[in-house]
Amino acid sequence: MTETVESPILIVGSGLAGLTLALKLAKHNYKVALLSKKDIDAGSTPYAQGGIAAVLDDEDSFDSHIEDTHIAGAGLCSEETVDFVIKRGPEAIQWLIDEGTEFTKENGEYHLTREGGHAHRRIIHAADATGRAIHDTLAAQCIKHPNISLYTNHVAIDLITSNKLGIAGTNRCLGLYALDTQKNKVVTFKAGRVVIATGGYSKVYLYTSNSDTSTGDGIAMAWRAGCSVGNLEFNQFHPTCLYHPHAKSFLISEAVRGEGGKLILANGEPFMQNHDERGELAPRDIVARAIDYEIKKSGEECVYLDITHRPADFITSHFPTIHARCLEFGLDMTKEPLPVVPAAHFTCGGIHTDLKARTNLAHLYAIGECTFTGLHGANRLASNSLLECVVFADAAFNDIVKNHDSIELINAKLPQWDESQVTDPDEQIIVAHNWEELRRFMWDYVGIVRTSKRLERAMHRINLLQEEIQEYYGNFKVNNDLIELRNLVQVAELIVKSGMDRKESRGLHYTLDYPEALPDDQATDSILTP
Ligand code: FAD
Ligand code: SIN
Repeated sequence: MTETVESPILIVGSGLAGLTLALKLAKHNYKVALLSKKDIDAGSTPYAQGGIAAVLDDEDSFDSHIEDTHIAGAGLCSEETVDFVIKRGPEAIQWLIDEGTEFTKENGEYHLTREGGHAHRRIIHAADATGRAIHDTLAAQCIKHPNISLYTNHVAIDLITSNKLGIAGTNRCLGLYALDTQKNKVVTFKAGRVVIATGGYSKVYLYTSNSDTSTGDGIAMAWRAGCSVGNLEFNQFHPTCLYHPHAKSFLISEAVRGEGGKLILANGEPFMQNHDERGELAPRDIVARAIDYEIKKSGEECVYLDITHRPADFITSHFPTIHARCLEFGLDMTKEPLPVVPAAHFTCGGIHTDLKARTNLAHLYAIGECTFTGLHGANRLASNSLLECVVFADAAFNDIVKNHDSIELINAKLPQWDESQVTDPDEQIIVAHNWEELRRFMWDYVGIVRTSKRLERAMHRINLLQEEIQEYYGNFKVNNDLIELRNLVQVAELIVKSGMDRKESRGLHYTLDYPEALPDDQATDSILTP
């Protein structure tokens, strides 16, 4: 007999987006079930380094932050969304401070650092471990709040909708199935409102700065349930991840360049000015492409990031985490340049939502990196992501509270997960092999520089993998790796389809077959509808 859990609100994901919404609702007396596929610390949020962008200085302005966001977004940001988010920035930061986040101060004032694409210093941070500071602050409160029931080690598999159950009326979300990976059984969750906050899909690439959980689960689940998705071809590659066989693409924050770090070749020559007059502080797509170009041209395996001209105590006080981590690999950034390469970092597109964080499936919201809100356009401005998490968690909170009276659980019993036709997996090696193959060809064919031929090759392989995985999925009991692989292949198909449809190069989508951007008035978002 499988278990059913009932909760008025169900949030999938315990990153910044999920924690913010859970805490706001709990403090407003709502009962919340909060799922994470691993422990509460899972996700990209604790990895975040640089900080959060917001207008916090008298010399800065909303207009300037808005303009920088549009420039980075290469003509595809939504004016309405950018206005909505940027103008709520100071309030979002104040909420984090009120909840107890300790941001770095210098001489009694919050220190604001600078990152690529920003015309002003506007990144508030907790040294170089901002995500960890915020996450720990919010998670500690969620863990002890009596209105929040935490379901860690629960991997959401698929949404349950009224259409799937043949219930008349508007199609709506009624809950979901999740695998309890410790008890190895599937639990049915019934909820009045479901919120997807599952983060991005960067793990579809071989090299990524992200945590293991970024497998696009929420995007794939929402797509299968009938939600529109948008701009999935725009995957951001962070220019500077540590190049070391054991570093697992450890990020070297953009704030290092913001504080004067220079990119140089193995022979010590700087090169960024040859690519963009903004040099090291050009938007991320430009810097990542410049590095990719220089690596291919020189045949070297990496370039170098040099901040040795700044005093050692400045470096160790601003970048204590990065400094300590690099020392573990025998690299002292106060004395030598760091070897760096780009790696997959951020999912700019995702589940299509409106300014209330609603998807096109009734009773289903989506917040955080899994969404396409219109904020990032074709390339996200540095440190706008954590801001988006807080602002849209707040938007979802307001809409849920406003529609309080209509939140009710469906009267009918939801069907239990059916395992009667499946057996234990016999060849786990197939799943492992397909994981590896997918991530490698996505890196090779759908990476920083694309061509139509490479995209076609990738699609051909994706189709073959889909057949194999579907067959496997139909015959064997689910486990975490299989759930993730099924989602990654689904998301890969959507990324490549969106890339093939875009007959231009714009922001993060660069193809040798269409190297120019279309005129801005002809540029459109890539919206896909199931
Ligand atoms: P995440 O924090 O990724 O959380 C996702 C949650 O969903 C996790 O709890 C996970 O367990 C859960 N989940 C996923 N799938 C399932 C499933 N099937 N079932 C149940 N649970 C599931 N942004 C900035 O603005 N500033 C920065 O300085 C910055 N630095 C960064 C540095 C690094 C190294 C990285 C990787 C990212 C950085 N970013 C930064 C981006 C930012 O951290 C993320 O975009 C943001 O934290 C995403 O938050 P989220 O809540 O949407 O998702
Ligand atoms: C960084 O610190 O470079 C990451 C900032 C971001 O992803 O916004």
